[in-house]
Order: sequence, then structure tokens, then C-alpha cells
Amino acid sequence: MAQPIQFAGEVRSNAARAVVAESEPQALRTFTPTQAVFAKSAGVFHFTPEGRKLYDFTSGVLVANLGHNPRRWLQRFAKNMNWSSDMLFGAPETAADHYAETMTLTAYNGITEIETQAVSKLLAALKATPYGKRFDQIVWAASGSEAVHKAIYASLARDRTRDMILATRYGFHGKKGFANAVTGSEKDMERDPRVKFISFPMEEISDHSVNGDAIPLERYEQELTALWNQYGPRLTCLITEPYLGGGGSFHPPAKYHHLLQRFCREHDILFLFDEVQANFGRTGKLFAFEKYAVEPDMVILGKGLGNGVPVAAVACNKSITAHMKFGEASDTWSANPLSSAAVVATLDEYADQNLIPHIAQLTPLFFAGLDRLKETGLIAHVRGEGVVFGIECAAVGDHTPADVAAKIVETCYVGRNGEGIHLLGALAGKVLRVSPPLTITANQVRESLNLMYELLSDLGTKLRGTPRAAAAVR
Ligand SMILES: Cc1ncc(COP(=O)(O)O)c(C=O)c1O
Repeated sequence: MAQPIQFAGEVRSNAARAVVAESEPQALRTFTPTQAVFAKSAGVFHFTPEGRKLYDFTSGVLVANLGHNPRRWLQRFAKNMNWSSDMLFGAPETAADHYAETMTLTAYNGITEIETQAVSKLLAALKATPYGKRFDQIVWAASGSEAVHKAIYASLARDRTRDMILATRYGFHGKKGFANAVTGSEKDMERDPRVKFISFPMEEISDHSVNGDAIPLERYEQELTALWNQYGPRLTCLITEPYLGGGGSFHPPAKYHHLLQRFCREHDILFLFDEVQANFGRTGKLFAFEKYAVEPDMVILGKGLGNGVPVAAVACNKSITAHMKFGEASDTWSANPLSSAAVVATLDEYADQNLIPHIAQLTPLFFAGLDRLKETGLIAHVRGEGVVFGIECAAVGDHTPADVAAKIVETCYVGRNGEGIHLLGALAGKVLRVSPPLTITANQVRESLNLMYELLSDLGTKLRGTPRAAAAVR
């Protein structure tokens, strides 16, 4: 059994960590040196069972874009489900044979009106953008991976004589089926031979101070031409992410995506834009395809779409899905009423809140506060856009960037005076994701980044003076 992570004085949290370490495989979670336990959450904060308050710099994993448990969103969600306070919290109903006449929780092989609202509102939101006109169908899914899988399945079904898929290297699209097949690179084990990779800009855009528009694209153009020359008419689709998320937060110039789109159009290859993590305001626009000014054939949405309720979707044109027969994209949970109710609540909130200008105000505050962290010697590069940033850790003494990243996560979690910052385990080994809810206030940005600066300054001093083996900052 893996030894559970334990922190001094955290009796309830440690007990929860021990149960999970005993009864669930470590593979169920990605690596984190903290394994924080949450008792409750509100807005930009998680609260531990011990009563400590943590700024959530993760939004789950870019899910709770509207913050945790926004009351009006919860009210809308409950209303969409026909739940009333009396039904939920009225006189105690203990008998097993009492039923509430509310929205069904499962409508498999049936249709609910909340599903029709979700599909209509989502299409309207997509079509309201200058780049979403071609979308007239939604394929629902329960997770991002499943949506990516369905998008690629539909692409292959469009023309069964074409069996090859292009993907941008070191992308992350999920861990199941075709989503797993297009994640990573050709070096991964069990690589699906139908998938070929092209490079995504990385080293030349290692810091946000670099002008991405000035980087040359010839190398990428040559790779595309070489792939066309080798596989030509066998190629059916190309999938990419707006920015490389799990791969370490690399944010390309829009002209890179324009190049991919041009190549796809020229050769009748479907252009798939996986914005499962980039959607719903993360990049500073409601949809990332708007930010990058591309018109994908299929856009894949997830995470923020349900603000915490699991749901994902593919938007495309019916000329693509027309080639699939009954059942080919079906499963138990797709278009379930709970997810649909969450999608409607989320879309209504975005329609009523003016979040996009708010995000534009936050972006420079984050860049200033994150750049300042470089002074601590622990951070080498800062990248990002909108409210999604990656801070790449530096080596300090004989501590590798990966060590430093883990120490930062731990140190921010421990925090000071009952306040800390919750971070995900590092991306690509050494890049820390900063992606709090989009509803974070300017003051909260300043306060949290000041706290992070103080914590990292102390950690830097400690790490510089401490040989690796003896470093004990927990
Ligand atoms: C770009 C992208 N696509 C797909 C996925 C997979 O989504 P899920 O974890 O919901 O299956 C993720 C998850 O992080 C993602 O970032």
C-alpha cells in the first residue's frame, strides 16, 4: 500500500487521506504532494476540515469557472431540475415509498425538455460568435475524453476509406479510447498506428515576454507537407488544443492555428479544436476558437460547461454526424437531465454576468504578480492568457525543477496564519498551473499573489541553504 501523505495537526484530513490510500489505487489521482481534503467550498476558496482557507488556484481542474457553489447558479440548477426547497428541506420524508414529482434523473432512450433547452442555448451561444456559424448539432458526452473520442469516431465515420488521424504533439485529450490515442507523442507505448503527430510551438514561446507573432512557422508547414506527401488521402482529421494545457501551458500565436486550419481546408481534413479546458472564458473569450479566430469543423467542450456537474459536448455540423447510425454515439449518461440542467444554468449565468471584461482586467494583474515570483529564484518562466497561466519552476542548488515544483505546492498548501493556496501537482513535471475561478476579484488576485510571493521567498531562502537530502519544508 502507498504510504498516505500526512500533515502535522490535520487529524480529519489525515484520516481521509489514509482511507483513500488504503482503498483506492494511487493511479486514480495524478501526483500531488498535498492531497488536500476539502470540507466545503465557496467562490474562490476551499476550506479544509481543520478550518483552514485555501485560495483555489485550480478551479477543480479548470471546471468551477464561475467559482465554487455560486448561489444563483445553484438556484438556477435546482429550478431546472424542478427541485424546490420544500421538496429538499421541508418536512422530513422518511418513507421509502415517497416520491417527488421532479425532473427525472435518467432519461435514457427518452428526451427531456431541459435537454432541448441545453442544446438550443449552447448552439445559440456558439453561433453568436463570428466563428461558430457552421455548428448546428451537439453530441453530448459525460467527460472530455468521451467527447474527444466521439468527435474522432464521427470523423472516421464520415469516410470509412480514410483511417488516419493527425494530432499535435504533447497534447492532452484524455485517457480513454481515441482521446488517449491522440494524447502525447509517437514515443508513448501502445501508440495507435493510425495517429501521426505534428509539432506544437513550445521552446520558442517559453515565456509570455516573447512575441509569438514573430516566430517562424516554416518548420510546421514542412511537417504538414511531409505528412500529406506520405499519407495524403488517408488523413481524415486533425486534432489540436488552443494552447498546450497538460503539456506545460504553451500558448501559440493565432497564426499557428490558422496554418493548421488552412492545411485542413485545402485537403478536406476535419479540423478539431479541443477546448475542453480552454472554454467558457479561460482564454479571455467565451470560446477559445474565438480568441484564436479559427472556425473549426468540430469544437470539443467540457469542464466549465457544467461548472462542476460532469458534462461535455462536441459541436459540429450535421453533415459530419449524418454518417453515424443509431447508437453509434450513445451511452448511459449523455444528455442526462442533471447535466443538461447544469449546462442551462451555466449558460444563463454567462449571459447575465459580464465576465469577459472582468477577465481582461485580471490578466495583467496575474502577469505582474506571477512575473514578480521570478525574483524568488524559484520561477524561470511565466506563460498564459486570460486566466490560465503556467509558471515553470527553476532548478535551485541541487534541487531539480520538479523538486522545486513539489515544494512550492506543499509550501503554498501549508500557507500561513490559516490561509494557503491550493495548486495542482506540476504539469509536465515542472510547470505549476494557476487557474482560479474567473470570478476572482482584483483584490483577491493581489492578496493571493502577495501571499504566494511571501511563501516562495521564504522557500527560496530555505532551499538555497539546504542540501536536497535534508530539505524538509513540510
Ligand atoms: C484539452 C483537454 N481535453 C480533454 C480532456 C479530458 O477531459 P476529461 O478529464 O473530462 O475526460 C482534458 C482534461 O484535462 C483536457 O485538458
